[in-house]
Order: sequence, then structure tokens, then C-alpha cells
Amino acid sequence: MRTIAICSGKGGVGKTTVAVNLSILLSQMGKKVILVDADVAMANIGIVLGIERAPISLHNVLAGENVIADAVYEGPAKLKYVPSGLSLEGLKKLDFSKFPGAIAALEKSADYLILDCPPGLDETNQQAIKSSRELVLVVTPDPASLADALKMSQFANRFGIKITGVVVNRIRGSKDEVKPAEVEKLLGAPVLAVIPEDPEVRRSTEKQSPLMIGNQGTPAGLGFKALACAITGEKAEAIPAQKKGFLAGLLSALFGKKNQ
Ligand SMILES: Nc1ncnc2c1ncn2[C@@H]1O[C@H](COP(=O)(O)OP(=O)(O)O)[C@@H](O)[C@H]1O
Ligand SMILES: [Mg+2]
Repeated sequence: MRTIAICSGKGGVGKTTVAVNLSILLSQMGKKVILVDADVAMANIGIVLGIERAPISLHNVLAGENVIADAVYEGPAKLKYVPSGLSLEGLKKLDFSKFPGAIAALEKSADYLILDCPPGLDETNQQAIKSSRELVLVVTPDPASLADALKMSQFANRFGIKITGVVVNRIRGSKDEVKPAEVEKLLGAPVLAVIPEDPEVRRSTEKQSPLMIGNQGTPAGLGFKALACAITGEKAEAIPAQKKGFLAGLLSALFGKKNQ
């Protein structure tokens, strides 16, 4: 059983994208996964998964109205998830100190609990990090993102939470980008995967259909697979090939070309 917080110092670096696609891959590998939308102010998980409003969310749990088991839903690829509420008005009455207890209550029912965290170190995020046993930092290859990630890792260290590794997202290959070896040196943790900038990721967000549901062969898709394998310690073959699109299916039928 592993509880992994997907964190970053800076916003918009790709935490939700990484958390969702990693969770789907782990689920496809046959693991029991629960993805928790710990970004209670932004509540993106339901939107990214293309699932409409859930009647009971993490908001109700933190408001003391429900237990967390009431807020677990099933998404694509048998992935279970706990959404956050979309309304901002209820945020003030939330008691974030209930977070660790709620997360602990889920631990018996999953192999992996993946927490999609808000950026920075506000009260919610501190509770989310304290609820985890491990942390995966998502950074973009620029100095500002890394400086913020460093603060995050210092906070985690203070609470004895292990930094399992770093995901360097949105790599464009320009010479000014901070290189993975420098990221490792600065943050003192291994780079688990590098994920290129890939227009298919944005397209999948717009379509509300995560990339790992059906489009695994794109450059970012290969990066997410490498991440899933780095997390589980398994080889890429452990992830079953997804249903191919019409064209890929036709090509593979004609030429026996592999999809992954
Ligand atoms: N590797 C990538 N290539 C292209 N677009 C990306 C990539 N990773 C994330 N994005 C896009 O960046 C935006 C922010 O990503 P998101 O996962 O919501 O960040 P965060 O959760 O850290 O705020 C989204 O529109 C997403 O589609
Ligand atoms: Mg997010």
C-alpha cells in the first residue's frame, strides 16, 4: 500500500495531468488505485476525467457531513476517484485537519492512493502532504519551478516524508532548459521520468478524455508509461496495450506494427 502526493511549488506545471495519467496506467496494470482530488479549491479531477458533478465530494467529508467512503466513485479503466466540490462558497467551513484521518481510512481499500495536490504550501497542501507517505514532485525545466520545488522538498523533509522522485514535465529540448542531472543535484532526488511538451496532452484535456485512455503512443504517453514503471518497478510490458484507434489498428493489421 503506497500513498503518494503529487506536488509542485508552482501552479500549472502538470500535477493533475501527471496524477490522472499515472493513476490510469497503474489501474490498467491491475493495481487498486484511488485518485484523490486534494486540490479542493480548483477541483479539476472530475473535469479532466470528463465526469459531471458528484453529489458527495471531499468537501462534504472535510465539512464533517460524510465519511470518505461515501465520496469514492468509479471512473475510466476501473480507476476509483474522490472528487472535490466545485463550489467555492463552502470552502470556508472545511476543516483541513480532517484530511489525514480521511486519507488513512482509504488506505485499506487500495494498493495506491494518489493525491493530486494544490501548488505551494497553503494549509490544504500541508495537510495533504502530511497525509502521504511519499511525495512525487512535478517540475518544469526552468529555475522558478525548481526554486519552488526546493521549498516543497524542504517542507517534506521536515515531516520525514520521502521524496520518491521528480517528474520533469513539458520538456521542449531547448538549450536553456535545466537538465535532468541538474534537477537531481538540486532536489537531491532521482528524476523518475521526463515528459515532453506534447500537443496531444492539451488536446486530451480539452476533450476531457485523459491521454492514457487510448493514445499511449504519443511522446508524452511514453513518458507517463516510464513514470508508471519507475513507480512500480515493473517493465513496460506490464501495461497492456490499449485499444488502437482505427488508423493504428489498420496499420498494425496490415504490417504487424506494434503500438507500443
Ligand atoms: N506534457 C505536456 N504537454 C502539453 N501540455 C501539457 C503537458 N502537461 C500539462 N499540460 C497542460 O498544461 C495545463 C496545466 O496542467 P495541469 O495538469 O492542470 O497543471 P497543475 O495541476 O500543475 O496546475 C493543462 O492544460 C495541460 O493540458
Ligand atoms: Mg491541478
